[in-house]
Amino acid sequence: MAHASSMERDEGSCVWRAPSNIALVKYWGKRKEQLPRNPSLSFTLDAAATTTRLTYRKKELAEDAISFDILLDRLPQEHFRPKITTFLKRALPYLPFIREFHFTVETSNSFPHSSGIASSASGMAALALCLADMEREWTTGYREEDFNKKASFLARLGSGSACRSIEGPLVLWGKIPGMQGSSDLYGMRYPLEMHTAFEGYRDTILLVDKGKKKVSSTLGHGLMEGHPFAAARFTQASKHLEAIGPVLESGDLEAFTEIVEREALSLHAMMMTSQPYFLLMKPNTIQIIELVWEFRRSEKIPLCFTLDAGANVHLLYPEHFSDRVNAFIQGYLVEYCEEGQYICDQIGFGAKKM
Ligand code: DP6
Repeated sequence: MAHASSMERDEGSCVWRAPSNIALVKYWGKRKEQLPRNPSLSFTLDAAATTTRLTYRKKELAEDAISFDILLDRLPQEHFRPKITTFLKRALPYLPFIREFHFTVETSNSFPHSSGIASSASGMAALALCLADMEREWTTGYREEDFNKKASFLARLGSGSACRSIEGPLVLWGKIPGMQGSSDLYGMRYPLEMHTAFEGYRDTILLVDKGKKKVSSTLGHGLMEGHPFAAARFTQASKHLEAIGPVLESGDLEAFTEIVEREALSLHAMMMTSQPYFLLMKPNTIQIIELVWEFRRSEKIPLCFTLDAGANVHLLYPEHFSDRVNAFIQGYLVEYCEEGQYICDQIGFGAKKM
């Protein structure tokens, strides 16, 4: 990949908005420097996003130290420092100019930060895009087609799932035999055709627990090392990825539901059987799942759920069922959400420069 060849400016800034994403086939377990144990696939979201302004100013002396300030909604956020320091250190070999600058990272999320919705995917993607943009601006002969790849590669170093927040509507991360361009190093737009049934697909995020994550993903991924079911899980995820291709092409929503829900429950099964073990679902998570199953059976509407490493429930459904699903949420599910809160989102098309 290209490296910046000449640093022409002493200061400047750029702004990127990167969306969140929801994995259909989950990444859980990693090796070496942020490489996935199995391939994963996600819907890019639209409304849930992070906007980041990166301002850079050349340091008097190019020391080795990484130097930055970080603000969320204009307020300094020192607790983000370790994660961003790790990210910038990992990115340094690929963007040597990092050590020449002092950065100010000003970030804001479209969703409330106390929502229990992870902002690391959208946040790291937005920051990676700003850095990739600096490099692009300063590199002579930069190949435009490399930009998304480089941004995704960098985002991965910050948070694995962030590498799936550059493009949309469907992003694959991880090497799949026979799929050209697929890589463990970055996400790519899923190359197979997507059936029109998935256009405008909805994701309503029911906020069951708005508290901070009980188990950090880094710790959770680590627990897959030596996990008694790890090998079977990685094989299952690869099989799901193989199976979901034709399902996305044909629009078979029954098969889609089965894969997506099995993925969510397998992810939680891994956490429930690791050492130490965790239970991240709440009673309300299970109440919602049961009601979703009942609704699907009785109404014949292909509403399905998925989960991240937490108690919140993502409801996935076709756009044209929005009214009926919303009525169901209002009538039956909202009482299981903390303070009755949920976020309405839909499939999106990737990050944007602002
Ligand atoms: C359950 O990407 O947050 O959401 O690489 O340690 O930052 P790190 O982990 P992270 O893990 C996401 C796990 C997941 C599943 C998924 O998004 O694929």
